[in-house]
Amino acid sequence: MTNLLINVDHIATLRNARRETFPDPIHAAVLCEVAGADGIVFHLREDRRHITERDVRLLKEVVKGKLDFELSTNEEIVSICCDIQPELATLVPERREEVTTEGGLDILSNRARLEQVVTKVLEAGVREVAIFVDPVTEQIKAAADVGANCIELHTGDFSNATLPENRERLASVLADAAEAGHELGLAVHAGHGLDYRNYHLFKRTVPHVEEVSIGFAVIAQSVLVGIEQAVRDMRLIVKGY
Ligand code: PXP
Repeated sequence: MTNLLINVDHIATLRNARRETFPDPIHAAVLCEVAGADGIVFHLREDRRHITERDVRLLKEVVKGKLDFELSTNEEIVSICCDIQPELATLVPERREEVTTEGGLDILSNRARLEQVVTKVLEAGVREVAIFVDPVTEQIKAAADVGANCIELHTGDFSNATLPENRERLASVLADAAEAGHELGLAVHAGHGLDYRNYHLFKRTVPHVEEVSIGFAVIAQSVLVGIEQAVRDMRLIVKGY
């Protein structure tokens, strides 16, 4: 059964847009869990554009399910992650100019640094360390080589595909990648751009997915139907109940 983790960054984006104290991502996280989310995801960016250190501390206190801390390899952020001790740390690429994460980490070109960071986070006591990767076998093998015990497959290309034949082809690329990760003994997670429509094909096609991380689709829907309803509707699609 795939677990549904909800990313609350966009609640913080809305709060920060008016330099306000609301909506509060902590409040949102509680409502997501009440509505059946299996956990909460956040990305503490180097520029703190949405989630802040105050949010991180409070999320650690209030989240009852799994807490997934997304981070770059920036020294300061890695230290904060080691202090916070989330259940899961997911390493992602980060560029200040990007609107959102644009692709998987290029592990092949950053092996030494990633190995250092993965080792540091595992040694600090974080049990699961994932690397966000494109569905490319060499990158998945490299994730295992640098010591990660999970991968999060980047589903952005699949999610953005508009032609049905492209969508199906990209779903089968993800399926092969999930198979490769599973064969290597890695836990397979997935995320980026998954939504109420494209999830059906993803679910039918891609095996071994233990966890999905969904943010924008659910938070955007919550503006219209309320966050609990938005989470319940996504949960029904992901888990079937
Ligand atoms: N996984 C990772 C690694 C991400 O960076 C993001 C975006 O913050 C997501 C999942 C969620 O993507 P979306 O907001 O498109 O659902």
